[in-house]
Amino acid sequence: MDVVRIRGGNPLRGSVKISGAKNAALPIFAATLLTEEPCIIENVPDLSDIRSMGELLAHLGAKVERLDPHTWRVTAGEISHTAPYELMRKMRASVCLMGPLVGRLKRSVTSLPGGCVIGPRPIDLHLKGFSKLGCKIDIEEGYVKMDGSALKGGDVFLGGRHGSTVLGTDNILMAATLAPGTTRIESAACEPEVIDLCNMLVAMGANIKGIGSHALVVEGVERLRGCTYRIIPDRIEAGTFVLGAAMSGGNVTIQGARYDHLTALFDKLEEAGLPIPRGESDQIQVNASGLSLSPVDIITLPHPAFPTDLQAQMCALMAVTPGLSIVTEKVYPHRFMHVPELQRMGADIAIEGASAIIKGVANLSGAPVMASDLRASAALFLAGLAATGETWVQRIYHIDRGYEKIDEKLRQLGADITRMPASEMPTQFLEEVAAGEG
Ligand code: EPZ
Repeated sequence: MDVVRIRGGNPLRGSVKISGAKNAALPIFAATLLTEEPCIIENVPDLSDIRSMGELLAHLGAKVERLDPHTWRVTAGEISHTAPYELMRKMRASVCLMGPLVGRLKRSVTSLPGGCVIGPRPIDLHLKGFSKLGCKIDIEEGYVKMDGSALKGGDVFLGGRHGSTVLGTDNILMAATLAPGTTRIESAACEPEVIDLCNMLVAMGANIKGIGSHALVVEGVERLRGCTYRIIPDRIEAGTFVLGAAMSGGNVTIQGARYDHLTALFDKLEEAGLPIPRGESDQIQVNASGLSLSPVDIITLPHPAFPTDLQAQMCALMAVTPGLSIVTEKVYPHRFMHVPELQRMGADIAIEGASAIIKGVANLSGAPVMASDLRASAALFLAGLAATGETWVQRIYHIDRGYEKIDEKLRQLGADITRMPASEMPTQFLEEVAAGEG
């Protein structure tokens, strides 16, 4: 198992290229099951989650080929309708196999997703949606068994306690493309990744109206065909580098990102005193050199509001911004696993219900810290860049799930960051880690 050592204090400078979006690639890979024809997916990020999804599709019987590091071809000729727990438990996003399997094969057996450190993640909205499309659903021995022999178009409302559901929208959308009749999805999620999936499905021959809105109308078709599709850039990776530049007082050009996917973040950074001008088409310039920022309050909500997947990184920035800021998490109210680790680095943060009350400090100090999930680990990397001294981040397999070669990209921007086997970590930290793991 690897760890990362970060020696803080270097402002990030230079340019960095953003990879394809993980949260678009995963449902798009699942969508290839909707046709027996080959689908070529381009600009795929090189991540462990993508490889897990490739394994899953291959297990179902699809021919999965990696044509180059960022291009895959999937040909789902004859496929099975059963996805096992052993493979699905690796990655929650595998839940979006249900839609294409029941859409194409009119039945599916998939494992119920397990627990998640960022909080309860039920799939009641997904199941409600499938039953509205005529599916009979049984939950047995930890599996969801769906009989879609009567699958047909229907009216589905996908609004839940925390707003719309992203993978729930993807699932119902994919099933509806091959369900006879009209499906209306109200309170659909409209994240850029959902729009990307819609565009891929249309390229396969699906009939979808209202793309980008909360109301999608799908006319079921007989069959779908193969296609070649290029995935959008990863707005969360781009947002993480924007916040890295802000935290280190750097000057960074972010290449291959979409400005319009991050306007909620830019609005808040402008309020904090860091304007991010709309630059050339796919370039974002972040110049925080010599700037002292002001605290801002954040509320996470579904797109186009402030994304929950940038909440932890924003907490890290506010932790070193003098003054009081309140970060309220409305999508995953318990998503604060990064806070105790930031406190270990000297941050002054208190959790009140679904809010983090942050009193900015002048400096964070390096410390051994533990990553608990993907975005929490990104926040710890950013905190390490801004801290004095050395920060050792463990369990970095979390960050490799969602960030392609992040330590190499940060080094390219001047960060003093080194990945190494855990055995090379100072033993006193190892001991400390042992205690923490208990
Ligand atoms: C997607 O997860 C993303 N994952 C998450 O990114 C992201 O945090 C989330 O959307 C919100 O933007 C992928 O795309 C692979 P939801 P998803 O269903 O679809 C509740 C990352 O860091 N809910 O939109 O699983 C749920 O508990 C990951 O890359 C129900 O109550 O999220 C949550 O509170 C983490 N019932 C809220 O809705 C349901 O049936 C939003 O969840 C479904 C969801």
